[in-house]
Order: sequence, then C-alpha cells, then structure tokens
Amino acid sequence: MSIILQVKDLVTKFYTLDGVVNAVNGVSFELNEGETLAIVGESGSGKSVTMMSLLGLIPMPPGKIESGSASFNSEEGLCDLLQLSPEEMRDIRGGQIGFVFQDPISTLNPILTIGEQISETLIRHKGLSKEQAREQTIKLLSQVGIPDPELRYKAYPFQFSGGMRQRVVIAIAIACTPKIIIADEPTTALDVTVQAQIIELFKELRDALGVAVIWITHDLGVVAGIAERVLVMYGGRPVEIAQVMDIYKDPKHPYTLGLLRALPSLEAKESKRLKSIKGTPPDLLIPFKHCPFASRCDYAFDRCWEEIPPLISVGEQHQAACFFDLEEGGPRHD
Ligand SMILES: Nc1ncnc2c1ncn2[C@@H]1O[C@H](COP(=O)(O)OP(=O)(O)O)[C@@H](O)[C@H]1O
Ligand SMILES: [Mg+2]
Repeated sequence: MSIILQVKDLVTKFYTLDGVVNAVNGVSFELNEGETLAIVGESGSGKSVTMMSLLGLIPMPPGKIESGSASFNSEEGLCDLLQLSPEEMRDIRGGQIGFVFQDPISTLNPILTIGEQISETLIRHKGLSKEQAREQTIKLLSQVGIPDPELRYKAYPFQFSGGMRQRVVIAIAIACTPKIIIADEPTTALDVTVQAQIIELFKELRDALGVAVIWITHDLGVVAGIAERVLVMYGGRPVEIAQVMDIYKDPKHPYTLGLLRALPSLEAKESKRLKSIKGTPPDLLIPFKHCPFASRCDYAFDRCWEEIPPLISVGEQHQAACFFDLEEGGPRHD
C-alpha cells in the first residue's frame, strides 16, 4: 500500500491576548491510498486545527505553523503542503484534496445557486467548459442523492435542508476526483437519522471512488463502520494510533479506554450509567512538561508527572503514548 500523505511533527500555535494557545503539539501520522483514517478526541483536542493547517486555512496571525511537514503524493509528485504558496494551495484544496466541514453553510456561498457553485469548482480545477460543467454537475447531484437534479441545479443553499446542503458540499468535495477527502465532523450538525444517511453516502462514494478519507469526529462510536484505522488525540497530541478493531478490543491508552467506557453499550441490558471521563480537558495556554492526561488518569504514577510519554510501538500497527501497561497493570518496561 502506498502512502498518500505523511504528516510529521506538526506544531501549530495561536498568539492571542490571553497567551500562546498550544493547539497542536507534534502530530504525526500517515494516510494510505484509499484508506479511511478516523481522528477522534474531545472538543478542543486540536483535530480541526490539524486539518486546517494541512489545508492552508489557519488564520495567520494569530495562528502560526511552527514546525512540521506534510508530504502529499500529488498528481505532480511529492510536495510539502506546509511549504506551498497560497496560490498552489488553492489549486490543491478543492481539487486534489476535497473537504467537508461540520457546517455546510460556511462552505456554500449564499448568493450563488447550488449548480453554479459545483460548476465553478469544475471549471476552475478541471478546466471544463460551462456546458460540460453543467452536465457534470447534474450527474454529481444525482450521485450524492439529490432528487430532481436538473431542477435543484437552480436552487439556492437556503432552499435546502441541512442534510441536503451537506450532500451539496460532498458533491463539491468529490467533483474533481480528489485523492483525499478531509471530513471534519461532517454529521455533527445534523439530525441522527440524517447523520446515518450521510455516513452511508460517504461510504458508498469512498468505495466507488477509491479515495482516501480523514474522518474527524468526537464520537468514537461511529468510527467502527467507517474507518480502518483510528488516531486518538488529546491536548493537541496523538495518544494512540491503531487499527479500528484494536482500538475497541485492546485499547492501550487510559484516555481511549475512557472514551470507550463513555459509549452507550449495545449489550448492556440494564440501564448502565455511562461513565464520563472525570475532570476537564487540559489548558492549552500552559505548555506541558508531563503527560497531559495525568490529572484525569486513574493509572497515573510518578513518571507521568515528570515526562511527556512519547508515542511508542505497543503492538502490530499499534502505538500509544503512555507509561502504564494496562494489560500488566503496572508501569511499562522500556
Ligand atoms: N483562531 C484561533 N485563535 C485562538 N485559538 C484557537 C483558534 N482556533 C482554534 N483555537 C484553539 O485551538 C485549540 C484546538 O481547537 P480545535 O482544533 O478546533 O479542536 P477540535 O477540533 O479538536 O475540537 C482550542 O483550544 C481552540 O480554542
Ligand atoms: Mg473541530
């Protein structure tokens, strides 16, 4: 399997009046061709800032990408997304890398028709004529499950429901047959039934197009049906990376374990109370010198308060950043 995107040691900060927000503190991962990688973590764990950094969408200032690289295997060969000029980035974003955000309204232009917006993407990135783009747009609308595409071509975003608007955003994301789609909580703003439909649509399109997907969510419960691998983030750092079944069956980080325990269980017949993780997410204004999860962790011992645990290999295709061995029930020997 070949790697389509390799992110190494990404660090992104915001210089605000309150101080420096350490939003992303050394994120590394790789994405294989055609693979779906889920990125999971509580709100504020740096998931969106990571993706915005890759897409060249961090407002600078106050934001700054301090270091790191993101090697993308583009149609023109390898390039570092973090080193591209704004023009080069605009060509890739929406072309070779599609994106879907939580709120479709932020992506859609209220004063252009749905059809015009999809056509515009095709004209710009694929160099299609107006007529070709129109034809292709109608095909795309029907591909994403929008009924009466010829008629809907002329509708404005406000005339669509939230779910239908998200389908339009997905049509724009796949319009230029991207190599990667970044989907940042694409169903969070939708009703539960619509959420399930959008997830189904996404899976269908992904399988049909063979596109690699980064699926960001705060809900570990939805990733089993979507992703092959999962990266768990905490305090702007990856704390565990594994194949999806290993995350569920054999979590190696207490934070992942906490997320799992907070999921409603299908087996639990009696109304078992969900255990939320005690404590609050870390204050990103204070740079960490110890494990960022230590204050909330049931297993923390001396060493966790003295050093930041590095991400280490704990099994086949399985890495975790924790000094405690959950299996052994004691400190990990390294
Ligand atoms: N423009 C900004 N200015 C200052 N802080 C920001 C900005 N954007 C994001 N942050 C901070 O970066 C941290 C990570 O945010 P984010 O990546 O959006 O989290 P997630 O997507 O995991 O919920 C948060 O503490 C957030 O407040
Ligand atoms: Mg987010």
